[in-house]
Amino acid sequence: MKVLIVGGGGREHAIAEAVAKSSKVNKIYCAPGNAGIAAIAECVPIGVMEFDKLTDFAKKEAIDLTIVAPDDPLVAGAVDAFEAAGLKAFGPRKNAAILEGSKAFSKDLMKKYNIPTAAYENFSDADAALKYLETAKMPIVLKADGLALGKGVLICNTLEEAKDGVKQIMLDKAFGDAGNNLVIEEFMTGREVSVLSFVDGTTIKTMTSAQDHKRAKDNDEGLNTGGMGTFSPSPFYTKEIDAFCQEKIFKPTVAAMKSEGREFKGIIFFGLMLTEEGPKVLEYNARFGDPETQVVLPRMENDIIELFEACIDGTLDKVDLKFKDNAAVCVVLASDGYPLKYEKGKKITGLEKFDTEDGYFCFHAGTKFDENGDIVTNGGRVLGVTAIGDDLKTARANAYKATEWVEFENKYMRHDIGKAIDFAE
Ligand code: AMP
Ligand code: GLY
Repeated sequence: MKVLIVGGGGREHAIAEAVAKSSKVNKIYCAPGNAGIAAIAECVPIGVMEFDKLTDFAKKEAIDLTIVAPDDPLVAGAVDAFEAAGLKAFGPRKNAAILEGSKAFSKDLMKKYNIPTAAYENFSDADAALKYLETAKMPIVLKADGLALGKGVLICNTLEEAKDGVKQIMLDKAFGDAGNNLVIEEFMTGREVSVLSFVDGTTIKTMTSAQDHKRAKDNDEGLNTGGMGTFSPSPFYTKEIDAFCQEKIFKPTVAAMKSEGREFKGIIFFGLMLTEEGPKVLEYNARFGDPETQVVLPRMENDIIELFEACIDGTLDKVDLKFKDNAAVCVVLASDGYPLKYEKGKKITGLEKFDTEDGYFCFHAGTKFDENGDIVTNGGRVLGVTAIGDDLKTARANAYKATEWVEFENKYMRHDIGKAIDFAE
């Protein structure tokens, strides 16, 4: 079959690798893709929000299945556009992708269905939000309602900071229309865990756990980023915690979406915080995580196409989802200065080593071919160097070893990805 993947980052490269392993697939396209994805898929220069061009391309090439990976097109209704054109697409429809697209919606859903999450209030009026803050306990968390490239969350330690945050989000529109509405949320403490899952509208099958490192610098300092590295599994996500989450969070979320007439078919990514009062939902995403996917999919034993089809057909209950009893670590190589100002167009060397070493992957995030056909940097996050190991410590040592194989002029990485592993025993 012919598959089209919509997206062009490290997550899409990891999805493309998994799709390439399927015995059912003989041709992969990726729109727009990148220089790494180009080794396994034919990249087509169509943007992820160009729905008409995407559906025209899928019709012309007789694509059997399209996988929409990023949040923006999902929330804007890309899957609906493919279906309206008579094409098969994997991902939630617009009315279900709202689970990620609106934090106010997701918080109200959790409240209505008793799904554990931080206490909160929604605001559409800045004055009301400012008044509420006067009597609120600090620190406090402000969240722009809509999509804001993962940046719409402010953790405020003082009343002053919080008031300033409300002004930035609601009045100065620092995150655009995403800040028309605001969620003000109780601050929680604990370890964070990401759990990704396949959902077919009724049945949910969770993948192995992972943990992301969102801050730019070592020791979780610096600005929030798209993610500087991940490891899987999380040693803190025990069988007992999983049993609790399955019954109190995962199944109730899928059932809640169904009761609301918003049947969810696709990937639900649960961002969890393991608090002293038990696991609580930090956020939902309606898609694979980036860079969680880079450590989760290489550990999966199943044919990913069978899973995508089972989600679409509503037959996920018949699938036995299996992960290897090993571990993976992904270290992101970024352009120095990310997430603020950084230079692009730097030549990358050493990539060929990954072609000959088993258990090592170099997922491309921001790369392209220059006019000489060389692979150069083309973004803040450039590569996700990923390694498998029998356990987390081996995987981490392998991943850091492999970061030395690749060079580019302004290469930057964190040196403490997976450090939490040392505290797990
Ligand atoms: P989100 O986009 O909702 O995942 O938020 C981004 C990050 O902000 C999370 O990964 C947490 O580290 C932090 N965060 C979000 N909500 C809270 C909260 N209620 N309490 C503490 N930290 C939070
Ligand atoms: N790594 C977090 C995300 O994909 O949103």
